[in-house]
Amino acid sequence: MFFENDLLNMQKPPETGRCIDPACIRPAGAIGAQVECHETIDSTNDRAKELARAGAPHGTIVLADRQTAGRGRFSRRFYSPAGSGLYLSLILRPKMPAERAVCLTAMLAVAVCRAIEAAANVEARIKWVNDVYIGDKKVCGILCEAGLDASGGVDHIIAGVGINVAPMVFPGDIAGIATSVSNACGKTVPRERVIDALIAQIAALYAGLDDLSFMDEYRRRSNVIGRAVYVQRGDERFPARAVDINNAGSLIVQTADGVLQTLHSGEISIRFDSDFSK
Ligand code: BTN
Repeated sequence: MFFENDLLNMQKPPETGRCIDPACIRPAGAIGAQVECHETIDSTNDRAKELARAGAPHGTIVLADRQTAGRGRFSRRFYSPAGSGLYLSLILRPKMPAERAVCLTAMLAVAVCRAIEAAANVEARIKWVNDVYIGDKKVCGILCEAGLDASGGVDHIIAGVGINVAPMVFPGDIAGIATSVSNACGKTVPRERVIDALIAQIAALYAGLDDLSFMDEYRRRSNVIGRAVYVQRGDERFPARAVDINNAGSLIVQTADGVLQTLHSGEISIRFDSDFSK
């Protein structure tokens, strides 16, 4: 058991930035063969987009110690202070139609869970569609953005991954809902250990991308299947029960009147006030 106060006994994050030494990053095949490191950047996704448009190869990683405009889904900011997290964007050039690219987010979520478990021996689970949780707190967000070619096919995918790793004190608006790998396991976990495991897991899973075999693991790691949730779709918000996630990465929910709906995108929150049978 670990309590937030124990943070006082843990190594404090450095006041100034310290980017991970690129020499410490071990590539796995093409993944991480080229790495660009920044002490401070607005958003690694934006920089990776520039590089991808300029022809950077599959597997290139942009890594930053700190982001001043880290982005999440729905244009939310992603808290990215110095010395604390892994903020990285990976350029992928998969041969697949844009609508299938959603499976890359699922693949990355599985890779992040495996990497956290390998580095810190703490269980990580996935909240549909792109968040990784330890217990009931978010430890990582994933933002995949597609760049299309002239004929509407996928030219590249920018896979942005933000993992809170070092001991962290979060600002008020996210203090109750966010955690870091170190906070969750009660000891300082080096970022180098997490990125090393992450690169290896991404390379292993990407090799099996076509048969979608990682989707079984994605479902096993889901922290929403079987639970009462609220679905947010545009301005609409309704209660439902999460039933399953199909191989296309869509969430199947059952609404209060028993109707099954397949959600291709959107957002859910877990309902702690109901088990849906009430
Ligand atoms: C989310 O929580 O909705 C996704 C967050 C994704 C954050 C990562 S950090 C590295 C990369 N650069 C960004 O600006 N965003 C992603």
